[in-house]
Amino acid sequence: MADKDSNKEAADYGIGVPVTKHGFFLKGLDHVDWGMKDRLSRIFNPKSGYTVMLAFDHGYIMGPTSGLERMDLTITPLIDYADCIMCSRGALRSIVPPTSNKAVSLRYSAGTTVLTDLNDECLLDIEDAIRVNASALAIMVAVGSKFEAKTIQNLVRTADLGNKYGIPTLGVTAVGKELVRDARYLSLACRVCAENGATFVKTYFSETDFERVTCSCPVPIVIAGGKKLPELEALELAYQAIQQGASGVDMGRNVFQAEHPVAMIQAIRAVVHDGRTPKDAFDLYTTIKNVK
Ligand code: 5RP
Repeated sequence: MADKDSNKEAADYGIGVPVTKHGFFLKGLDHVDWGMKDRLSRIFNPKSGYTVMLAFDHGYIMGPTSGLERMDLTITPLIDYADCIMCSRGALRSIVPPTSNKAVSLRYSAGTTVLTDLNDECLLDIEDAIRVNASALAIMVAVGSKFEAKTIQNLVRTADLGNKYGIPTLGVTAVGKELVRDARYLSLACRVCAENGATFVKTYFSETDFERVTCSCPVPIVIAGGKKLPELEALELAYQAIQQGASGVDMGRNVFQAEHPVAMIQAIRAVVHDGRTPKDAFDLYTTIKNVK
């Protein structure tokens, strides 16, 4: 070896100095493996502890939704402002520049569409998820529906594969037409996801008692935005969710269907990461929107 003769004797053993311990910043996830924590730290900002995810996976069950007809035109300009994108592998490969270097929450289950009975889904291929460097595997979990058992089996299988390869599982609580999105139901659905191995959970905000949903879920929750609301109301929804314990948002329509999507995602970031009030964030939205 080149340094055989000039090797400097080791002397700095730090005797008496305790070994540094690195706690993990996300709730309930102290004991997951290193690769899992690395991926989670790409999805959630370790400084703020929160995430702004941009969901544009709607087409996998709904076809070309308003705002997603030409994702290359409408979604690509938003990617820089998201901490993580949530999409199908088709959208990822066709319109997301790999150079954007974003965390990807990959739609990892697929099956029926809005034309038939939703949620009769199977899993994708783990090798393909690894190939696209997925930071999370997103699985539909339809608690209380006809496909409850099947979708929970999908979650369990995904969590096992995720643990094997260090990829977090995102349990997505699907709400069937027949189910009410109240705190009682959402608490049950989120808890079922967490207990069966979801690393984090995506659900809807409930008008009342949302804090019960976040408190009774042992892992982080991110909220979907749901149907398009006026911009100020969407910012209020995000604000309320964060105040009541959500660890972030995974919003789609309230961003890409906004009058000015680039301004909207920045306003959402101000609420989620900087704790700005809805009114402040709306002022920011208006300012950015009006810049020519
Ligand atoms: C459906 C999903 C969608 O990605 C999500 O609901 C879309 O977000 P938004 O409701 O904000 O449009 O997970 O199960």
